[in-house]
Amino acid sequence: MREQFYRDDKDWTIVEGSVLDAQFMGSLGTFDIVYSWGVLHHTGEMWRALDVVDLAVRPGGQLFLAIYNDQGVVSKRWRFVKRLFCSGRAGRAVVCSVFIPYFVFEGAAVDIVNWRNPLARYTQYVSQRGMSRFHDVMDWLGGYPFEVAKPEQIIEHYLARGCRLTRLITTNGSGCNQFVLRKSDPDRDGR
Ligand SMILES: C[S@@+](CC[C@H](N)C(=O)[O-])C[C@H]1O[C@@H](n2cnc3c(N)ncnc32)[C@H](O)[C@@H]1O
Repeated sequence: MREQFYRDDKDWTIVEGSVLDAQFMGSLGTFDIVYSWGVLHHTGEMWRALDVVDLAVRPGGQLFLAIYNDQGVVSKRWRFVKRLFCSGRAGRAVVCSVFIPYFVFEGAAVDIVNWRNPLARYTQYVSQRGMSRFHDVMDWLGGYPFEVAKPEQIIEHYLARGCRLTRLITTNGSGCNQFVLRKSDPDRDGR
């Protein structure tokens, strides 16, 4: 992004660290915008991570989040599959041999029923998603740790920490719910 849009921007810094590393996170300071899309549910300690990113938002600042939707038993099944995938080569082989054919045939069936070219979902995928479908499938199957939350759990979690929801996009099923939360600013909001 920097190379493409802000090559000479002296204020742009890129650092790498874990959101669960309190010392690292504390060293970053606070910001008007904190953006975390599809990350905190993969840390293994989602609720702690949600608290840590809150500390990085300046009063009056905004937090942009995407967190996997809680689908109850469906989410529990996916958690099992992903854990199996990450358990070693045998688990990975089992998961791939079941789910890759399943995704391929399911996709082809949906396309044929809808009179679409079944190959188009593979050839057009990179330009739409930024990665190949195979890469995306492996990323999904291997995305563990895997935690989920209902939209109201996230909203209540942040309400209790002085953040209110300003925008919400929910998903009906799998995938992420997306939130924009604004942290209260006692100086401005009190007036
Ligand atoms: C599904 S990917 C994120 C997708 C990406 N944000 C996007 O929009 O395409 C999940 C990311 O979470 C990161 N991650 C997992 N645990 C983390 C941690 N403790 N601290 C920071 N990042 C972490 C992984 O490195 C991985 O890049």
